[in-house]
Amino acid sequence: MVNFSFSSLAGRLKRSEIRELLKLTRHPETISFGGGLPDPAIFPYDVVKAASVKAIDECGRLALQYSPTEGEPFLKEQLRDFMGRQGVNVNTEDMLVVSSSQQSLDLISKVFIDPRDPIIVEKPTYVGAIQAFRAFDADFQGIELDQDGIDTEQLERVVIRLIDSDRKPKFVYLIPEFQNPSGITLSFERRKKVLEIANKYDLFIVEDSPYAELRYRGERIPPLYAMDTEGRVLLMKTFSKIFCPGFRLGWVLGPKPVIEKMVIAKQGTDLCTAAFVSMVAAFLLKDGHVDRQIEISKHLYRRKAAVMLDALDTLMPKEDDIWWSKPDGGMFLWLRLPECIDTLEMLNDAIGLKVAYVVGSGFFFDGSGANTMRLNYSYPSEDQIVKGIGRLGRIVRKRLRVSVM
Ligand SMILES: Cc1ncc(COP(=O)(O)O)c(C=O)c1O
Repeated sequence: MVNFSFSSLAGRLKRSEIRELLKLTRHPETISFGGGLPDPAIFPYDVVKAASVKAIDECGRLALQYSPTEGEPFLKEQLRDFMGRQGVNVNTEDMLVVSSSQQSLDLISKVFIDPRDPIIVEKPTYVGAIQAFRAFDADFQGIELDQDGIDTEQLERVVIRLIDSDRKPKFVYLIPEFQNPSGITLSFERRKKVLEIANKYDLFIVEDSPYAELRYRGERIPPLYAMDTEGRVLLMKTFSKIFCPGFRLGWVLGPKPVIEKMVIAKQGTDLCTAAFVSMVAAFLLKDGHVDRQIEISKHLYRRKAAVMLDALDTLMPKEDDIWWSKPDGGMFLWLRLPECIDTLEMLNDAIGLKVAYVVGSGFFFDGSGANTMRLNYSYPSEDQIVKGIGRLGRIVRKRLRVSVM
């Protein structure tokens, strides 16, 4: 038998329990609120087909060649214009094209985290970020969320405590818009406060923003990146939720010294992002298809979110300590149940009734949040949403030993 001598980093690589649990729920008849998937019914198949032909016809040689690590200049220009249309002025020199936001998380970890370095994250936060940062042995420091985003008073207290013990956090990782998993948005006032704290204590902020364009209600709030006056924010963007995850394409905008390090780190990872995908994406952006897709997605997700919120209102037991978020965009909402309910334990009942959700504790680096779950409304149909929430309501009622209506 070969005795493989893995690195200590490999030793820290653990399969995400959450992703493993989700596999159990993949039964064709199961209604899944589990994945973080866009609705494939609206994928623009013909448009992608036409853009692929255009990429070959108009820039075949470049599309099939290696591209600069920083990204295809044609794509970067289109991304700059796209962000401009979203109200965010950016410079292509501050941009790195990546193969996904998950890659951005990996590159950020590579260039910032030494073992046991403190980093600050929201509680809960994106499970893929926990995986990426944990591989590099980050010391997670968590800040609670309320309906306006992270508790900035707690943030300042934690920062002071860390600095006083000579352990300044390497960065603060935030998902300000329609957060995954909670659906919560960081308010404008809190954004100002976060930046004030960052300026006061010289902190670096990593702003992960895959969902911002999918706002279907309320006023747009500028990203921290646009509000920052000191060059201390890195903004992560991706095609995955606004267009199709199959593209595996993203981009980051940030301070030059950080982008430069990430470029070098990326060279050791994959040399460059796929040129062909980049060219297709550039044409899709240029011809307005991405903007159109965003409008279509917003329209659909607005409806689906409303259906899920209505279903929760009517089909969940009415208890003071049952709460769910009411997102203004994105793909998720967060359900908190009474403390006596463990959603991991309850998953068995759910699998039995053919409905799936993501157990909330997976989004907490310390395994807390046992009474929470994430519900996705972008993937299931409206009919499935109503049926699935009905089943969840029955399961919760049973757990609460409330008689079935
Ligand atoms: C907050 C957040 N960051 C990053 C990602 C990863 O995105 P990508 O598909 O670009 O790797 C996701 C995907 O669900 C996400 O929700």
